[in-house]
Amino acid sequence: MADRELTIEVFRFNPQKPEIQPYMQTYKLKETMGMTIFIALNQIREEQDPSLMFDFVCRAAICGSCAMIINGRPRLACKTLTNTLPNKIKLFPLPVFKLIGDLSVDTGTWFRHMSLKTESWVHTSKTFDPKAQEDRMDNETANKIYEAERCIECGCCIAGCATANIRDEFLGAAGINRVARFMVDPRDERTPAEYFEVVGSEEGAFGCMGLMACDDNCPMELPLQMQLAFVRRKIAAIGLGYKPKQGIKLA
Ligand code: SF4
Ligand code: SF4
Ligand code: FES
Repeated sequence: MADRELTIEVFRFNPQKPEIQPYMQTYKLKETMGMTIFIALNQIREEQDPSLMFDFVCRAAICGSCAMIINGRPRLACKTLTNTLPNKIKLFPLPVFKLIGDLSVDTGTWFRHMSLKTESWVHTSKTFDPKAQEDRMDNETANKIYEAERCIECGCCIAGCATANIRDEFLGAAGINRVARFMVDPRDERTPAEYFEVVGSEEGAFGCMGLMACDDNCPMELPLQMQLAFVRRKIAAIGLGYKPKQGIKLA
């Protein structure tokens, strides 16, 4: 690896100090073997500027907290190697989410709101019996649920989504993926009409412009394009006058 000096421009703004206008701050540092954006930021914070705000927990693409805009694209800082980028790097916080300061945003409030709105729990009339055997599920269904549940709630799909950037209540790909997860779950007793209430509007599947930025930006490579198409098909079928009987499943 050729010795490179990286120039990293970082968006700075502290909402607690609104009298100081947002600005870009430039840092320089030597690139090291295996350096990620997270490692670079940590080094800057330790050696140059302890006031720099950014989030991380796992450093292993699991917690979803280090997402930011890296050279124009939403990505995970801990998964992005600097050697995949030019030596001039620009970092911004994710849009859509509330800014905490510099590169740190509050994705938790957004995801909690989305979970409540999509009622992200299995709706069942069965009473839980801790002594009963677990319900069996076929492998294909279990895999579909597992696939949807790989979402780490990083917010990259939301930040890069044109609709989410202009419509506050839009569920985005993460929300529609969540709905798909429950649609395929045989334990969930919600009717198609009830799902229509959740996702059959401009804030749900009909607000999606289908340009698939979400699919390109998802660091977990979730099949968002497939999930969006699945939910849109189901919702369109209901909207076209399909009269479901109580308890009939969509999937
Ligand atoms: S395909 Fe839909 S959800 Fe995905 S980025 Fe585009 S508008 Fe947003
Ligand atoms: S669907 Fe992908 S991009 Fe969107 S929040 Fe989940 S992991 Fe992040
Ligand atoms: S620090 Fe957890 S995903 Fe990057």
